Amino acid sequence: MPTWLVVVFTIMGGAAVLKIIHALAIVVVHPVTQGAMFTSTARVKIRKALDAVPMKPGELFVDIGCGDGRVLRLARKRYGVTCIGFEINPIAFAKAKLLTMGRRGLEVRCRNFWKADLGKANIVSCYLFPDVMSRLGAKLGKELGSGARVISFNFPIPGWKHQAVLRAASKLNNDPIYIYKIPESLPDSFTGH
Ligand SMILES: C[S@@+](CC[C@H](N)C(=O)[O-])C[C@H]1O[C@@H](n2cnc3c(N)ncnc32)[C@H](O)[C@@H]1O
Repeated sequence: MPTWLVVVFTIMGGAAVLKIIHALAIVVVHPVTQGAMFTSTARVKIRKALDAVPMKPGELFVDIGCGDGRVLRLARKRYGVTCIGFEINPIAFAKAKLLTMGRRGLEVRCRNFWKADLGKANIVSCYLFPDVMSRLGAKLGKELGSGARVISFNFPIPGWKHQAVLRAASKLNNDPIYIYKIPESLPDSFTGH
């Protein structure tokens, strides 16, 4: 067999194996992620959200289900905030770890965010699926302090009153981005009562 053909088969075989590992990782964590699988938000959408949510250095930005850490990296670069990401998918976590290696102020934890206390976060971002959004609203309503901001890509938090709904100026990436702010005193709808 000619060498070039061996190279082509090796590359194709490698790519197929990586695809299978990626799919397996998604299946294994499905009971926890409930469908919110590893896919990255388009940069144009992240920039749109960051433009609308000013942050101060020293504030804590948390991405729950951080994927490859893209949102964290852009938030850190833009505002110098301290960033923590939670990620349960081992492939996404490994990628995020690799891409944030050696960067100060950025931490990625291989952890189920449902088991984490998010009370210290000033800004929370997420791109999760509709099935979990009511439960998420109840968790964030209980744990976040007043003035904390929440960015939810694509899906709203049921019962929460948004501050803004944004869309990036892009034909391909114009899904809604919901922006919320925790008020001084919480209406019942924020805590799921
Ligand atoms: C649609 S991706 C979004 C990734 C990233 N936030 C972004 O916008 O680019 C959702 C991610 O959340 C992760 N995830 C879902 N539920 C989780 C949980 N309970 N704990 C940690 N990660 C979770 C998934 O593994 C997936 O990588």
